[in-house]
Amino acid sequence: MALEKEAKRMAAEFEYSKDDLNRGVQHFMTEMREGLGKTGGHISQIPTYVTAVPNGTEKGTFLAVDLGGTNFRVCSITLHGNHTFSLTQSKVAVPRTLMETQVAAELFSFLAKQIENFLKTHHNDHFETHKAKPGQVAYFDLGFTFSFPVEQVGINKGALVRWTKGFSIQEAIGKDVCELLQKEIDALNLPVKVSALVNDTVGTLMARSYTSPGKESTLIGAIFGTGTNGAYVERLSNIKKMKDIDEKQGGANYDTTTGLMVINTEWGSFDNALKVLPDTPYDRALDKESNNPGIQMFEKRVSGMFLGEILRRAMLALHNSDNSNASFLKDKTSADNDLTTTTVIEPDSALFKQWGIDTSFLSIVEEDQSDHLRITKQVLEKDLGIQAAATEDAIAIKMLVHAVGKRAARLAAVALGAVILETKRLETDGFVDIGVDGSLVEYYPGFEDYIREAFRETQGIGEEGEKKIRIGLAKDGSGLGAALIALTAHDAEKP
Ligand code: GLC
Repeated sequence: MALEKEAKRMAAEFEYSKDDLNRGVQHFMTEMREGLGKTGGHISQIPTYVTAVPNGTEKGTFLAVDLGGTNFRVCSITLHGNHTFSLTQSKVAVPRTLMETQVAAELFSFLAKQIENFLKTHHNDHFETHKAKPGQVAYFDLGFTFSFPVEQVGINKGALVRWTKGFSIQEAIGKDVCELLQKEIDALNLPVKVSALVNDTVGTLMARSYTSPGKESTLIGAIFGTGTNGAYVERLSNIKKMKDIDEKQGGANYDTTTGLMVINTEWGSFDNALKVLPDTPYDRALDKESNNPGIQMFEKRVSGMFLGEILRRAMLALHNSDNSNASFLKDKTSADNDLTTTTVIEPDSALFKQWGIDTSFLSIVEEDQSDHLRITKQVLEKDLGIQAAATEDAIAIKMLVHAVGKRAARLAAVALGAVILETKRLETDGFVDIGVDGSLVEYYPGFEDYIREAFRETQGIGEEGEKKIRIGLAKDGSGLGAALIALTAHDAEKP
């Protein structure tokens, strides 16, 4: 009982109340406006130079690559013009050494090499003809999904602001990532032009617009995966900083006729000052020992890369607790069946290693309805090297998992709810459509339900508003979306 009480107390530290939620939404809206006014706020509000969303009739074949987390994907996409598309892809893990290399070219030449392999396998005729007779075949337009904050100055131009999600290549900061990739593509003499730079959230937004049926266009593309971020459609007239940016460029280098532009919020850095974000000892320790302390504070409470680590720190605190009655993952006599369990934690258990716990662990535990939480005990053994955990231990872990996961979903609702309210789309449109992607929304049980519950508690949305919000998975968003933006870029270049 003492353990249960202690676990409950810790879980309560993660509670994010209705008041917290509403304060969060208000502050988020304030930071959105600040970001539209000037460069350098917490929420960056980066103009993407994408000025229209697709309607499903677009056609053509395009290449897309996607760098943004653990894997690098290369794909070719054929848009059929009837809301459907076909996609061929290959995927490789990005070697850890390249995520932290000193020399940016090492990473980008690795990427170009993967593009070459892909062309050889899937578009060999094109590849061979180009090699034999350069200039004879059309170049492929390539959409580059690069899911890090980039201060864009054009559809295929932009300087990297900072790395996130464990990448750290100092040399690349401030550089144009499209140019870095094009240079390596040219070095391999490939018939490919990097024609669009795309954040994964923007790709998700475009993909959802292309595939989603109905007249209402999509408002938000959001990722809840390794990292978290969102892009949305903003009125040009609200993007106050655009005037300065245009002046520096010698005039607007984008289509102004739609009166709209997609904004990449980079909401992972919402409230870095921690004015409204919850802050437990586990959050603080995680941040302090991360490679970018004080940055991406929202992301560190919401996304997949971090939830496992928050949980790990909470579990470790419980294990090391001075409260000897609340013995956790230690030998004990179970109240359940009066049996004594001898729990063994292997010395090299992931419980003792930074980033040791993967989010998939949380998803499995949250979902576990088995007798005596048998499944949780199995995954404790398999993933964390903890043998013969008692049912009480598993129950305590489940409580913590639930608390960490639910808080993440409620925070996700802060971001989504703020964008919905700030754009006033509930007032003007019949429905608000949101495209989402990422392991957390896809696999974490109940993630969307908790978001919806929070929407109902949000002033200005409420029960009525929540019913008008559509949330749909936009699978392959980064590939399809990048192709759609490459298409726009291609069309814009035509005389
Ligand atoms: C991080 C990146 C952002 C990306 C998000 C989701 O927050 O900074 O650009 O969209 O992860 O992948």
